[in-house]
Amino acid sequence: MIASNRPGEFASRSKQANAMEDIGSNASPGETIGDIIGRRFNRRDVLRGALTATALASLPGYTLLNSDEVLAQAAAKSAFNFKDVPAGSEENHAVADGHDVDILIRWGDPVLPGAPAFDPMKQTAAAQRLQFGYNNDFLGYLPMPGAANGSKHGLLCVNHEYTNEELMFPGMGGPQQIRKNAFSKMTKELAEVEMAAHGGAVIEVKRDADEWSVVQGSRYARRIDANTPMDITGPAAGDTRMKTRADPAGKKVLGMVNNCAGGMTPWGTWLTCEENFNGVFWGAADGHPDSAKLRRYGVPSNQYNWGVYFDRFDVAREPNELNRFGWIVEIDPLDPAATPKKRTALGRFKHEGAAGVTSKDGRYVLYSGDDERFDYVYKFVTEGRVEPANRAGNMNLLDTGTLFVARYNSDGTGEWLPLVHGQGPLTVANGFASQADVVIDARMAADKLGATKMDRPEDVEVSPWSGKVYVMLTNNTGRRAEQVDAANPRAANKFGHIIEMSPEAGDHASTKFSWEILVRCGDMSDPKVGATFNPATTKDGWFGMPDNLAFDSQGRLWVATDGMSQKSAGRNDGLFAVETEGPLRGTSMGFFRVPNGAEMCGPCFTPDDETLFLAVQHPGEGDEAADEGSFENPATRWPDFKPDMPPRPSIVVVTRKGGGKIA
Ligand code: FEO
Ligand code: CA
Ligand code: CA
Repeated sequence: MIASNRPGEFASRSKQANAMEDIGSNASPGETIGDIIGRRFNRRDVLRGALTATALASLPGYTLLNSDEVLAQAAAKSAFNFKDVPAGSEENHAVADGHDVDILIRWGDPVLPGAPAFDPMKQTAAAQRLQFGYNNDFLGYLPMPGAANGSKHGLLCVNHEYTNEELMFPGMGGPQQIRKNAFSKMTKELAEVEMAAHGGAVIEVKRDADEWSVVQGSRYARRIDANTPMDITGPAAGDTRMKTRADPAGKKVLGMVNNCAGGMTPWGTWLTCEENFNGVFWGAADGHPDSAKLRRYGVPSNQYNWGVYFDRFDVAREPNELNRFGWIVEIDPLDPAATPKKRTALGRFKHEGAAGVTSKDGRYVLYSGDDERFDYVYKFVTEGRVEPANRAGNMNLLDTGTLFVARYNSDGTGEWLPLVHGQGPLTVANGFASQADVVIDARMAADKLGATKMDRPEDVEVSPWSGKVYVMLTNNTGRRAEQVDAANPRAANKFGHIIEMSPEAGDHASTKFSWEILVRCGDMSDPKVGATFNPATTKDGWFGMPDNLAFDSQGRLWVATDGMSQKSAGRNDGLFAVETEGPLRGTSMGFFRVPNGAEMCGPCFTPDDETLFLAVQHPGEGDEAADEGSFENPATRWPDFKPDMPPRPSIVVVTRKGGGKIA
């Protein structure tokens, strides 16, 4: 069902009118009423709903229309100014007409001084530690403090999510073969290359003479990997379950892994989220003292064989190391010597991202999805308040506060349920000895509270204009008909959907919200799919498997997809522009298409909306079930297209031909 509750109606109409402001790039003939509204009225007034009937009646030539008619005219025009890029499946990327795409940095390119030239036949961990890592996912842009133009000079924070042995190293065979052969071609040295290719990177980027490049020798440049020393902070720090032979105090850990999406805080730190950390653990849950808990987290899952060479990744040899992964890590990109901090107050699960917003009273609120079938949407509300003028004072804000999990009611309302030790069922009798247990076992705590089991919550973002929260539910083919509920309305949900949440009274710290479904995704031409895109969506514009998302500074929604290539042949993943307001609400348009085998990640705009950074992850990957895609036989050799060069995950830069705002 689609919830009927539709709060913020007035704000919606106002924002739609505002979306017409960017008249300089509109090629359509004549001046529309939207143009006039945009030119005559202050952007902020329009946003706040101050565009009254009286103001509208003052527009020359439109006195015969009432305000609803004027707004309806303005609203019927798209917030975007481009034509769909055709859906398709090709070895190269494609972008909407009127835009340029450049490659900014590729796997293996230098990040730190002394990085050797990338040599795919002779990779070493020592080289990889200095080079750009694999599978770039989240991108966060921090305008360079003190820069003349913060939209032309900044720091880019990049997550390196995972590694594909079959595409990275010669002679491995396909992905199935690698696992069937129990990683027989892998060596300790190659495992170390993988560990060095995980994690993240900070790069300084600059636009000179209209070309973006990575600043070589930057004092901010940094690589973080699966062996970087990190602090453990918050309620789980020092707990018995966090102690290992290498760290008897339970307060230090080496590295972060499987960092998928993330967020940037208003105090200029980077939040990077450990997602499928279960994959790096080796062995079997049977025989482990916490075997039931391990199963709830899918640990171990033997997707990497690091545990063969390194005890800490073997659950039998180091039973607690697994509790030290699955966290949100906070990193200060302005200080390359700063120790990254795993913030345990935010809970341990397969964090996809971290969407932050400051509440009405100044507390910081972070939304995060747990990307697993039937898992949950969470938020964290700090106890302290953000101090805009006191950066140092915000640095440990994320250690103290309340973690909540979402329950979506069938009437379009919802509740945030607190994960607080001693409250409700989170007691010693139920296996939670302390708040450390609550955060380490956040999934089980949320189970006890009766949270709503969702269709794989991926990324979450807050619209900077409407304050609504957008949750990407990527798919869940495992949901049976009897498991359908209002917030997850389709059985065998192959294409996913997008939920829009409105905090009560616009206050993100509130424990109540209302919600509705923006769109059920999928092929609009097949009635069995039950997609609900606006009929204005073209055959090129629909998508499935929403994953990352972003808002530009005009409040427009952009959605990146993951999984279309494999599941819907002939239709690669990409970036889609989605209307959220007015008569065109729910209309989607294809803007960028990734090369074969890739996933679209990390959409990130500069503050002036003139540059869009995108992460192209795992180009060349094939259908894993069919054992396709390998170093020797990838689905593409993007972006170099050289016979001796494997495909390389890369960041691309999209700009508008001749300058101006994207799309
Ligand atoms: Fe790494 Fe949930 O995507
Ligand atoms: Ca993702
Ligand atoms: Ca995904």
